[in-house]
Amino acid sequence: MNDLLIHNIGKLYSPDPDNFGKISITDNCSVKIRDGIIEDIIPAEVEVNAPVIEKYDILDAKGKSVLPGFIDSHAHPVFAALRNNEFEMRNAGKSYLEIAEAGGGIKNSVRKLRAMSEDDLFRISRKRVLEFLKFGTTTLEAKSGYGLTVDDEIKMLKVIRRLNEELPIDLVPTFLGAHDTPEEYKEDREGYISLLINEMIPKIAEEKLAVACDIFIEKNYYTIEEGRRILTAAKKHGLDVKIHADQLTCNGGSGLAAELGALSSDHLEYISDSDIDTMIGKGTVFNLMPGASFFIGMKDFPPARKIIDRGGICALSTDFNPGTCYCYSLPFIMTVSAIYLHMSAEELVWAATAGGARALGLTDRGRIEKGAAGDLLVMDIKELSEIPYSMGMNLVRKVIKNGKVVI
Ligand code: NIG
Ligand code: FE
Repeated sequence: MNDLLIHNIGKLYSPDPDNFGKISITDNCSVKIRDGIIEDIIPAEVEVNAPVIEKYDILDAKGKSVLPGFIDSHAHPVFAALRNNEFEMRNAGKSYLEIAEAGGGIKNSVRKLRAMSEDDLFRISRKRVLEFLKFGTTTLEAKSGYGLTVDDEIKMLKVIRRLNEELPIDLVPTFLGAHDTPEEYKEDREGYISLLINEMIPKIAEEKLAVACDIFIEKNYYTIEEGRRILTAAKKHGLDVKIHADQLTCNGGSGLAAELGALSSDHLEYISDSDIDTMIGKGTVFNLMPGASFFIGMKDFPPARKIIDRGGICALSTDFNPGTCYCYSLPFIMTVSAIYLHMSAEELVWAATAGGARALGLTDRGRIEKGAAGDLLVMDIKELSEIPYSMGMNLVRKVIKNGKVVI
């Protein structure tokens, strides 16, 4: 296999993993990638000689910019059917919780996913994951949580495993059996929690079908006390933990994330000031996904400025799912975040690369330097602020995954 040399790079942007929002710029350079790993960054003046050209595939960046591949650290890409009817209902005045109480929402997705075969689920999810890649995502978290039986949760996680094996993108699997309580356990919540703790978590951890465990802590979903029990069990089985917290109400889920040493607390529209400080104290990542507030028409957004000004470390993700954010594109989420979260382009790009890596516990990516993963984008921009500014546009011209040009 030939290795890759990207030359004629106009600007190379590399986030500093230790400094939130800091991105270094190198003008006029080339990058060599060998065995999937960045081998060197060379100034343009250093002539690339014939033996080098023979050994490497050459990609001419034509003076464009190179960034690390985007890392989308919160997404639900495996599901059976769209919920565009719920989008219409919301736009006609119903709220997310009202639609859920009437049998829509997660329960709607659960019914449809249970009725679909693993192969069909694989086929439709595969198409979606390829769309992420086109918008520059080279690492994507993927949650279960629309099955809510042992077999259906495992079916989802097996689909994620197959996608990971087949496609040129890394999928990071998360078990979200505590997304909702299934209909058949409506009168026996404790029965379902015991199934999660005593059967699902041990089995999924043992078969290495997930690396982390998530839960939806929210009014009508799971309480703090239930979250503590379920996630403590997950930790005992070696899984990392994370929480959907403070999305629709202020519920203290973020404080629990900090208490349990979670990788991240996610959503955070209604996070309390004291939980912001507790998370900062513990180094828990603030995973922001304002696409969800935007898409379900909420007036409140996560208090990103307050979090950043106090010293919090943020990731930015799509929360791609059929209900609250049907969007593959991290660049579009950057546009929403620039407008509603008042984040700078440097903060946004950092959060969608180095921040995503941090939220997933990955130390080998999210920056461009010797020894880091060869996951890169060639983008048709001169300045980073063109990314959030270019609303809904795709400025990604090439996607390189592990040193191979895949788009
Ligand atoms: O992240 N908040 C809970 N889970 C998803 C929504 C799931 C759904 O509506 O299907 C979210 O917003
Ligand atoms: Fe989510």
